[in-house]
Amino acid sequence: MSSSTSYTEQLTDALVDAAIQAVRHAPSVLNTQPWRWRVHPARLELFADRSRQLSAMDPDGRLLMLSCGVVLDHVRVSLAAQGWVSHIRRTSSTSTPELLATLTSFDRVEITPKAQHQAHAMRRRYTDRRPVSEQPLSPAVIRAVAASADGRVRLHVLSPDQVLDLSAAASRAVTVAAKDAFARAELEYWTSRTMPEGSGLPAAVLPDHCPQTSVPGRRFGHPGTLPIGSGHDRAATYALLYGDEDVAERWLEAGEALSTVWLTATALNVSVLPLSDVVSVPATREALRRMLRTFDHPYLALRLGIAEPQSGTPPRTPRLPAAQLIDAVPWTT
Ligand SMILES: Cc1cc2nc3c(=O)[nH]c(=O)nc-3n(C[C@H](O)[C@H](O)[C@H](O)COP(=O)(O)O)c2cc1C
Repeated sequence: MSSSTSYTEQLTDALVDAAIQAVRHAPSVLNTQPWRWRVHPARLELFADRSRQLSAMDPDGRLLMLSCGVVLDHVRVSLAAQGWVSHIRRTSSTSTPELLATLTSFDRVEITPKAQHQAHAMRRRYTDRRPVSEQPLSPAVIRAVAASADGRVRLHVLSPDQVLDLSAAASRAVTVAAKDAFARAELEYWTSRTMPEGSGLPAAVLPDHCPQTSVPGRRFGHPGTLPIGSGHDRAATYALLYGDEDVAERWLEAGEALSTVWLTATALNVSVLPLSDVVSVPATREALRRMLRTFDHPYLALRLGIAEPQSGTPPRTPRLPAAQLIDAVPWTT
């Protein structure tokens, strides 16, 4: 076996492993996992799977693109933890299947402690829908989480007045979503117990009653079995992921930034809850936009806080088998 072949084989094994890690751990809206990876020798491609798009709740596909951005960044994190960096070419394509990004031009690099911490956080991260504890986050921790979004997508931490505005917008989004029969049916489909194994939300991760909160999150239409206690998340911090353009390419980057923010937060023991209803409804998205500078657009609202220490960890949300989400293209040489 020539040394160049063995280099390509090593790299391709790392790509398969990174794709497996990413699909095993990446969060997605309603756990839809709307992605597909194709592994080539020394090349990795990410496709959107529109068959798992929420056509009523997310007709533009912004939450689908955010989710795909998260899985893209999770692959980057997994590769960095194995000592690989790559160039990521993001594509705006309308072809079917829809190619979103290609990872090429790989280099061997030193495995840094930061890369190891991020990979560790990726395995520990989860969504916690229970109220956060009464202990607020320290300003230093908030600054560290906000600073982790340092590209074209940034994190804006809301002032107390803006939290009141977010609260009003989120309540309105809940009302709008509740009136939409198609959205209700879609939500029921992705949160019902007859879901195909490995996607959607099982009852075990849904609150057993409506949480006490200043800013309402997604209402799931029926109670789950996750005990959430009687706490109120008044000590939570709220933030918006935002950027300068409201286009699909930027939503993908917003997903990558969401991954970075969520992993940074996890490493600092900060719980993150995305609030996506309020960005899906056009009128309430516009209300969020008024909290930003004139030309900026909101991509996602986040609740940040410290998880109630006594509550333990909620059950893990299952994932689809990796073999269903990853194609390996056979060697041609
Ligand atoms: C783009 C995006 C939007 C999300 N929106 C919400 C939301 O509005 N409410 C919620 O409870 N969880 C939301 N989530 C969390 C997902 O439901 C969760 O990641 C998924 O079920 C997998 O569970 P895990 O994060 O515990 O691994 C969102 C996640 C992503 C990536």
